[in-house]
Amino acid sequence: MKRPVLVLNGPNLNLLGRREPGIYGELSLADIDQRCIDWGSELGLDVTCRQSNGEGELVTWIQDAQGAYDALIINPGAYSHTSVAMHDALRFLEVPILEVHLSNIHQREAFRHFSYVSLVAKGVICGLGAKGYELALTAVADLLKGNG
Ligand code: DQA
Repeated sequence: MKRPVLVLNGPNLNLLGRREPGIYGELSLADIDQRCIDWGSELGLDVTCRQSNGEGELVTWIQDAQGAYDALIINPGAYSHTSVAMHDALRFLEVPILEVHLSNIHQREAFRHFSYVSLVAKGVICGLGAKGYELALTAVADLLKGNG
């Protein structure tokens, strides 16, 4: 049985491919979601992908993930740097959390250097573009096998 894994993307990530491609790459979110589903399947994971621009909706999805998914991969977008509500919801979640950013947030403006999500994430991958999601899925597959 494939292990259920949730991939969440936050605000403005629906614009991928059109939004600052020099920073975030040429792939659309639909491209990335499809890759996550395919990569996940090869790794024995049943991947569900969701995106929202709304902080409250993301908080609700994080709450609902408890008991429904075995791991969460999240690119919280700008809410990484602002959302105590998302941080609190993630603290409630008992499964491994992997944080992904397409860009290297540490090479960018100072306000992107801190993430409320990193405080509760098992690991953080940034600066590797869409490859970051693949690496996060690989890490999740290992963690769920009891490694790492
Ligand atoms: C981002 C980095 C954030 O600072 C930014 O607000 C985003 C995308 C990334 O994937 O690089 O929306 O999370």
